[in-house]
Amino acid sequence: MLERRIRTQIRAKEHQFAAVVPRELVGVCRREMEQLGLNILEESEAGVEFRGKLEACYRANLWLRTASRVLCRLPAMKVGAREELFAKTTRLPWELWLDPHVPVRVDVFLSASRLAHTEWARKAFQDAMRKRFEGVGAGISFVEPAPSNEPAVAEEEAAGQRIVVRIEHNRCRISLDTSGAHLHYRGYRVKHVGAPLRETLAAALVLQSGWKPPEPFLDGMCGSGTAVIEAALLGGKIPPGRRRRFLFQRWPSFQEKTWQYLLKKADQGVQKVAPARFIAVDRDPKAVAVARENAVRAGVAPWVAWHTMPFEKLDPRDLGLPPGLVFLNPPYGVRLPADRGLYARLLHHLGRCFAGWKAIVLAPERDLLVSGLVRPRKVKRLRHGGLSITAGFYDF
Ligand SMILES: C[S@@+](CC[C@H](N)C(=O)[O-])C[C@H]1O[C@@H](n2cnc3c(N)ncnc32)[C@H](O)[C@@H]1O
Repeated sequence: MLERRIRTQIRAKEHQFAAVVPRELVGVCRREMEQLGLNILEESEAGVEFRGKLEACYRANLWLRTASRVLCRLPAMKVGAREELFAKTTRLPWELWLDPHVPVRVDVFLSASRLAHTEWARKAFQDAMRKRFEGVGAGISFVEPAPSNEPAVAEEEAAGQRIVVRIEHNRCRISLDTSGAHLHYRGYRVKHVGAPLRETLAAALVLQSGWKPPEPFLDGMCGSGTAVIEAALLGGKIPPGRRRRFLFQRWPSFQEKTWQYLLKKADQGVQKVAPARFIAVDRDPKAVAVARENAVRAGVAPWVAWHTMPFEKLDPRDLGLPPGLVFLNPPYGVRLPADRGLYARLLHHLGRCFAGWKAIVLAPERDLLVSGLVRPRKVKRLRHGGLSITAGFYDF
């Protein structure tokens, strides 16, 4: 009976989803979604909305390199008082959506509505879910909302099923997280050194640079190897989510066969030989060792040539490299001011030895990206873990 209702009401139907993405990455994420053939509806506060069956949600999670997560939108409902929120939430078929064994975390956001007390609204919502599950002979447990907006991966995994309830102008929109841990968590970066880039941001920068195999990709300050690994995954047509699990896999509607089919199709498309030359450089041997380990886990290590040396000593002509893309993420952070002299040396070296190459250089401030006649063709401001980053895109 339950199985038949899941089939007819959840699997057979189309639903609305949202690829959540920071504002400045909406364009690049939308292009990814177009290439995946997702049925895009519109851009929203959260990112990019799309429609489809569950299979579309599986593909989005598996393939989107720049999205933070994928939400499933339940149909919106009008709610005035707390009693109305309780009554309408009780009528939703929760047992078709969620496995009662997975603890639920409810995050409530209220604005310009008759319901003005977040805690009361959350209690009414949770009581309604509990009542609904009790009605079908199941119990459900809840976990407290995380104190910060950006919980660590482990916290997110422990948090179970996240539900976002947003009530604006007495209109309630319920979103179920389908991803689990943030999508930047690919599963390959178990170790890191220094301040690693988010995988989603590194992928977005590579996509925005226009780099395409077989052009060489050179990460001149590879740290934990995020940029070179993301470029290799992209060039090798390897899905970023291939090595991790998602929350939708714990839903009662999960279709193992469909999922296995998507994985098989993805695996058949993976490049068997290196699609380009990938070069990773760092002056710190510890960083090179960690980056190499991460690349092994990502399945791209044999494609990468590793060099322990200062980037300023590397001449691509010595390696017989034709022009490609250089990626530079020099060290700086909250407690570590950027080294102006280093930026000047890097730009000078690029100008002298990298004729015909494109480059991306990251800096905390725009003026660091200009030295003498070397200046970027385009500059983008991005956010990264609370810090503001400026990315300069160059043609040499
Ligand atoms: C901010 S980290 C790079 C982080 C990397 N993008 C990641 O996601 O893990 C900066 C790295 O630059 C390296 N480095 C600093 N100066 C260098 C130089 N002159 N040549 C090569 N590597 C350098 C440091 O050892 C450090 O690993």
